[in-house]
Amino acid sequence: MENKSMLQLSNEQMRNLGYGVVDLLIEHLNTLPEKSPCQQGERASMEQLFREELPKHSQDPMQVLKRVEKDVMGNIMHLDHPRFFAFVPGPGNFVSAMADALASGFNVFSGTWMEAAAPSQIELVTLDWLRSAFDMPKTAGGLFTSGGSAANLTALATARHVKLGHEMERAVAYCSDQTHSSVARAFRILGFRPEQLRTLASDADFKLDPQSLRQMIEADLNAGLQPFCVIANLGTTNTGAVDPIETLASICQEFQLWLHADGAYGGATVLSPETKELFKGADSVDSLSLDPHKWLFQPYEIGCLLVKDQSHLKQAFHILPEYLEDTAGKDEEINFCDYGPQLTRGFRALKLWMSLQVFGADAFKEAIERGIKLAESAEIMIRDLPQWEITTDAQLGVVTFRARPEGYSEKELDAHNQALVEAILEDGYAMIVSTKLRGKTVLRLCTINPRTSVDDLLQTIERLEQLSQQLAHKKLMA
Ligand SMILES: Cc1ncc(COP(=O)(O)O)c(C=O)c1O
Repeated sequence: MENKSMLQLSNEQMRNLGYGVVDLLIEHLNTLPEKSPCQQGERASMEQLFREELPKHSQDPMQVLKRVEKDVMGNIMHLDHPRFFAFVPGPGNFVSAMADALASGFNVFSGTWMEAAAPSQIELVTLDWLRSAFDMPKTAGGLFTSGGSAANLTALATARHVKLGHEMERAVAYCSDQTHSSVARAFRILGFRPEQLRTLASDADFKLDPQSLRQMIEADLNAGLQPFCVIANLGTTNTGAVDPIETLASICQEFQLWLHADGAYGGATVLSPETKELFKGADSVDSLSLDPHKWLFQPYEIGCLLVKDQSHLKQAFHILPEYLEDTAGKDEEINFCDYGPQLTRGFRALKLWMSLQVFGADAFKEAIERGIKLAESAEIMIRDLPQWEITTDAQLGVVTFRARPEGYSEKELDAHNQALVEAILEDGYAMIVSTKLRGKTVLRLCTINPRTSVDDLLQTIERLEQLSQQLAHKKLMA
């Protein structure tokens, strides 16, 4: 029976709505390649669609669903689209979407063992699979977070707690100029001054240079400062570059610094034996961020933090107020609220666990390897075009490149490639944006969607070439 004031639908209404949602998702997945990945919306038209008084009375759930289908989902970019190559795509998968529905349908509270024994155990086991993929010691543990930014913030809060206590005044940390902005934001949130995060110029391959790191640490020590942390990349967002973890780990050991590895973009590729080679030394880092909602194909939101000594997380975050004393439980019963900033936490682990159960880790490994190969194929295709250049080779699913019409100055090249981004957005066939490498505007393809075909890439690159020629022609005629 429907009972509105109890916020309940009838069984029939629940079924209709539930099946309607599932049908909509299946339709979405089946028709996605025919749609444009680039759908954008103006603020004014969104205002027109959604600005209204608070709805006081009930409506037919199927009507509301229809509106969601048309007006909401019709006005988003499709990060799960096989031709979405911008930023970091979010391929997602259906099993995990259903897991999210279950987690919220049962409204699982994953903050304490008392309230979620099985979910806590599943989180422990799933984290342990990731820990062992990196060969981190058994003392390592962590938690699932909302994403990579939250994982980095949690890691750096832990590093600060363990290495500095409350003495932050003279503290300094180090990263390369290719480090994700979430690290600088984390330092800001944690109360450091901007100059306390030393951003070192990356080397020719966009990696953190151990030599300049060592020099900077020594100079800072001589100046009476307190180096405490290094942030390394397991795959930068810009180019997929992997910092020399093993060498950085030995420097950190020598100077007693916390080594945090940001694997939010590339870390998941540890599942492929070939790329695991690149991460040599990652087994000894103090903390490591991963982002399953990127390259482990999970829907938003799920990030992950692993800390070599998981008791450090508890030291940094545990507080037991009187109203939670009954949840303290036995030693072996993990309360995830003690390991990070959230008390109330959703059951994020379920989607990763369930999709690994359904597809198996081999399928994940193959999907990851496919993404790496696709970027390599794109590089080969682009190298074949005379008026284009590769700016960084394909690595970990990222390739950067730019159109290079003859006779253009550097300034004109930047303007031309920027104009290409606008042209491709307008064209709508594929989603590609620019980035800057050493000040140059370049285009970037991130090819981690396992449902991207070689033909998708070929067609996209052909379109880019056509658009570039059209722009060059227009300039000539101007
Ligand atoms: C290397 C790296 N670190 C951190 C992040 C932040 O992750 P999230 O967007 O999940 O907060 C990203 C996102 O692209 C990233 O590429």
